[in-house]
Amino acid sequence: MKRDFLSISDLQRGEILEIIDYGFYLKEHPFSDRSLEQKSIGMIFMKPSTRTRISFEVGIYHMGGQPIYIQGSSTQISRGEDIKDTARVLSRYLDGLVIRTYSHKEVEELAKYSEFPVINALTDLHHPCQVLSDLMTIKEYFGVLEGLKITYVGDGNNMANSWLLGAPLVGMNISIATPEGYEPNGRAVAEGIKLAQLFGTELEITNDPIEAVKDADIIYTDVWVSMGQEGEKEKVKDFDGFQVNSELLSKTNKEKTIVMHCLPAHKGEEISEDIFEKFSEVIFTQAENRLHAQKSLMSFLYK
Ligand code: CP
Ligand code: NVA
Repeated sequence: MKRDFLSISDLQRGEILEIIDYGFYLKEHPFSDRSLEQKSIGMIFMKPSTRTRISFEVGIYHMGGQPIYIQGSSTQISRGEDIKDTARVLSRYLDGLVIRTYSHKEVEELAKYSEFPVINALTDLHHPCQVLSDLMTIKEYFGVLEGLKITYVGDGNNMANSWLLGAPLVGMNISIATPEGYEPNGRAVAEGIKLAQLFGTELEITNDPIEAVKDADIIYTDVWVSMGQEGEKEKVKDFDGFQVNSELLSKTNKEKTIVMHCLPAHKGEEISEDIFEKFSEVIFTQAENRLHAQKSLMSFLYK
C-alpha cells in the first residue's frame, strides 16, 4: 500500500530513525540510490520556496527521477478544479507528488484520491519535511535525540505544530513559548500530548519564554509572519520578549545550547543578527540536510 508523508506522525519512531541514518549515508554517497529511476515526481507549489523546491528537484535528479515543477497558479486548481479530480488525473501521469499549499485538508484530500505517495512540502498546519531534516541535524550535532530538550520560541505556526509531534515521537522533551493568542493549533496540541504520554516525554506550552528555555539543548525559532499572513504584519508588536537573542540564550543554564532556524529568517525580529551568525553553521546545515533527509524519505516511500 502506498504511504503518504503529510505529517511527521505518519512515521513511526523506528522509521524516522531509519530515514535519518540512511540520510547520513546519502550525504556521503549522493548518487548511490536510484529508487526514482523511470519515475516522474510532480511538485506543485502554491506558495514561494527556495530550500524545499530546490532540494527536492536536486534530490529527485540524484535518484534518477524526473522532477516536474508546477507553479500552482498555472494549473486548473487555481481556477477551481476540484482536488479530487486533480488527484485522479495526476495519478494517470505521475509516480509521486510533492505539494506546498495553504490548506492541510486539501492535501489530505489529494492524498486520499491519489494512487501515488504524496509528500507535504508545507501547509498552514504542518511542515514535516523540515522537522525530519532538523532531527537529522540534531542527531549530527548531539549524536542522540532521546532525552534532549527542544524549546520553540515564537509563533504557534506550522513549525510549532510539527515540532509538537516530532519531539515526543523520537523521545525528546519539548517546550513551546508563544505570546498569548498565538498558541499552536489545538489538533496538533492534542496529538502531541497523546504522543508525549505514550512515549513518556515532557511537553509544555507556555507564554513565558524565559521559563521555557530553561535546560534547553536546542532553541528553535521561525518567522512571526508566515506565508499567507502578509496582511497581518501588525501582529509583530505582540511578540515583544520573544526574540531569540543572547539574553534569552543565557537563560538556558546550559553551555552547549544550540539555536536553530528553518529559514527564511527575519533578522531583528524572531532572531537577533549576532545569534543568527553565531549559529549560522547549524542553521545552514539544517538547510543542507533538507536534501539528504528528503532523498532518504523518498527512498523509504518507494521501497
Ligand atoms: N524552510 C523552508 O521550507 O524554506 P523554503 O520556504 O525556502 O522552502
Ligand atoms: N512558518 C513559515 C515556515 C517557512 C519555511 C511559513 O509558513 O511561512
